[in-house]
Amino acid sequence: MSAGIVQAAYIVAAVLFIMSLAGLSKQETARAGNYYGIAGMAIALIATIFGPEAQGTGWIILAMVIGGAIGIRLAQKVEMTEMPELVAILHSFVGLAAVLVGFNTYIDHGDLTGALLNIHLVEVFLGVFIGAVTFTGSIVAFGKLRGIIDSKSLMLPHRHKLNLAAIVVSVLLMFYFVSVEGSTFALILVTLIAFAFGYHLVASIGGADMPVVVSMLNSYSGWAAAAAGFMLANDLLIVTGALVGSSGAILSYIMCKAMNRSFISVIAGGFGTEVVESADQDYGEHREASAEEVAEMLCDAKSVVITPGYGMAVAQAQYPVHEITDKLRKKGVNVRFGIHPVAGRLPGHMNVLLAEAKVPYDVVLEMDEINDDLSETDVVLVIGANDTVNPAAMEDPNSPIAGMPVLEVWNAKHVIVFKRSMNPGYAGVQNPLFFKENSQMLFGDAKDSCNKILEHI
Ligand code: TAP
Repeated sequence: MSAGIVQAAYIVAAVLFIMSLAGLSKQETARAGNYYGIAGMAIALIATIFGPEAQGTGWIILAMVIGGAIGIRLAQKVEMTEMPELVAILHSFVGLAAVLVGFNTYIDHGDLTGALLNIHLVEVFLGVFIGAVTFTGSIVAFGKLRGIIDSKSLMLPHRHKLNLAAIVVSVLLMFYFVSVEGSTFALILVTLIAFAFGYHLVASIGGADMPVVVSMLNSYSGWAAAAAGFMLANDLLIVTGALVGSSGAILSYIMCKAMNRSFISVIAGGFGTEVVESADQDYGEHREASAEEVAEMLCDAKSVVITPGYGMAVAQAQYPVHEITDKLRKKGVNVRFGIHPVAGRLPGHMNVLLAEAKVPYDVVLEMDEINDDLSETDVVLVIGANDTVNPAAMEDPNSPIAGMPVLEVWNAKHVIVFKRSMNPGYAGVQNPLFFKENSQMLFGDAKDSCNKILEHI
């Protein structure tokens, strides 16, 4: 394949990637968006493997077959609820790849001299730095999401000064690295500093801010890929990396706004962690309801709002939830869904599950669209949600989730909370909703509870 054809293929692939992102921004077009992405990636791979610069095509294909087989196996095995972990560990590979590409192009930098050599060395240095931060940061994120590493934030003394020192030393090392026209010692040293920096950056972010961290690492992995693109003089890698980098950054910003967090404080780590947890506070008694009582309540209601959360995903309760919705709608009850932007464990988690169960899109509303209507709602079903319906976010300034906008379900006439125990949710914060006068708990697996309700409707 000639260089011209490869360039043309790269442009087509880049356009397909942009169309893919545009498609993924709406539920109705998301499937098409995925296909554009697959087509773009297939074209890019073929052009790269059979392009004039490729050496050892046999080896590349062998590596792809092995990698592809592992990838397919993992993707088939992974549960929807484990998706963020998979994404986090995949980001770590992108980071590691950027570090390896950096060392490789440093060792083999051809016959560049003068300004071109300096530019090349800066690319190598930045690529290795960003890649190393992404690598260890993503591993810590993986560990926290999987529960191997404590999700509480790591609070080292002078942590902000440590971060600042790591950045200052790295900048000085970069000047040294360029001025001596490359130094293996400086490159290894900055790699180690960046590994520690990435680890510390994510370790110091508390559990409740993890959604932002995952999308931020997504952004970093994009910049790491773009840096690798500069080092390899590969335009498509630069474009793709920039697309991933900027869309990840935009998503992080949107999520910060949704959670009322400051972007800078989340990135700097440890936001909202100097608060006193009121675990021992006495909230009073909770009340319980039976599935039969809930079914009766639902049949008598005029309007019902369902607010799903992580527990609905664990229980795979979206199918009976859809059946309940269907039956009630046929009886003339106005049933709608209220979706919190960070419900579940990944952006859009609840929307994906509800779409999978074929719940119509027009009854699935965002938090801001439904919150004002909750005071006029007869029954709210909180299905496996906890942090996203916690009034402490609004009422208790000392709460670790203080300031996060939540679904104000307690304003409804009756609230039924589906969960298995009185345990707290992801952020580890007790939920005063469970003890409110208009709240009742329906204990048990959410799917079983929904099925029991269905029997009685
Ligand atoms: P959570 O606060 O995580 O609470 C989920 C609840 O579901 C738990 O209290 C659990 O209680 C219950 N549950 C678990 N399995 C269940 C089952 N089989 N049947 C019934 N209930 C079950 O959920 P949320 O309200 O969706 O909030 C999401 C949290 O995750 C937020 O803190 C958010 O910041 C964080 N987070 C979000 C994301 C994104 S991007 N969405 C990413 C990472 C983290 P029991 O154990 O008592 O049953």
